Amino acid sequence: MSKRPKAVDDAGSGSTVMLLHGYPFDRSMWREQIGLLSSQGYRAIAPDLRGLGETRPTGQVSTMGDMARDVAALMDELKVDRAVICGLSMGGYVALEFFHLFPARVSRLVLAGTRAPADNEQEKLVREQQAQRILAEGMKGIADATLPKLLAPKTLNEKPRVVAQVREMILRANPQGAAAAQRGMAMRRDYSRDLPGIGLGTLVIVGRADSIRPVADAEFMHRMVPNSRLKIIEDAAHMTNMEQPAVFNRALVNFLGLIH
Ligand code: MLT
Repeated sequence: MSKRPKAVDDAGSGSTVMLLHGYPFDRSMWREQIGLLSSQGYRAIAPDLRGLGETRPTGQVSTMGDMARDVAALMDELKVDRAVICGLSMGGYVALEFFHLFPARVSRLVLAGTRAPADNEQEKLVREQQAQRILAEGMKGIADATLPKLLAPKTLNEKPRVVAQVREMILRANPQGAAAAQRGMAMRRDYSRDLPGIGLGTLVIVGRADSIRPVADAEFMHRMVPNSRLKIIEDAAHMTNMEQPAVFNRALVNFLGLIH
């Protein structure tokens, strides 16, 4: 079985932005950003991360290092030396791991709905329980339980298409791949001590109503990364780029404009 993501969207030309999705989602969550970036003179590349989307699970654990190395291998294949690395939630952990492993290949960082510290023992236990539940019962329970946390009340009430898109992404995730990603997230390092050494422009984005990775997590990263800016998006929870795409895109393009 292939270790690299086989499924990838690659659009536009210019400075490259790698878009790394969250858990248990896939590259389709970046549709709005791919359209925007490719029309604004950037190349947007969004892979399905290991075991999710259209890639196949490769084992019982997909570590953040596995995923970061997959991204590097994909960049090699697509002849991209250096890119803006933009990750949401689990994609943010992969972005931080990528920076740790391949700092010279990162031009800027975008960290959305994510956090730097590792899990505590209780959080690791919950992840293992969720992995086992997914393997036994499939994704439906996770979709039902997490949708109200992933999306802000305004999204849930007024954007049925976004609600359906997020729900369908979760339901079509491969349970083995999702369980492996959960276990990989439980094993991730504490990235906090890397933050002061990030000498790159960094954009930290968070939804005001995100209870999964709350504003305080974003403020911590903003305080610790010397050259960072913080964007708090109103009327959004965890899926900021899908819930408020126009606001997310404006923040992204304003930030990226600096490298054009
Ligand atoms: C995600 O959206 O990627 C997850 O909520 C990340 C996590 O469980 O820590």
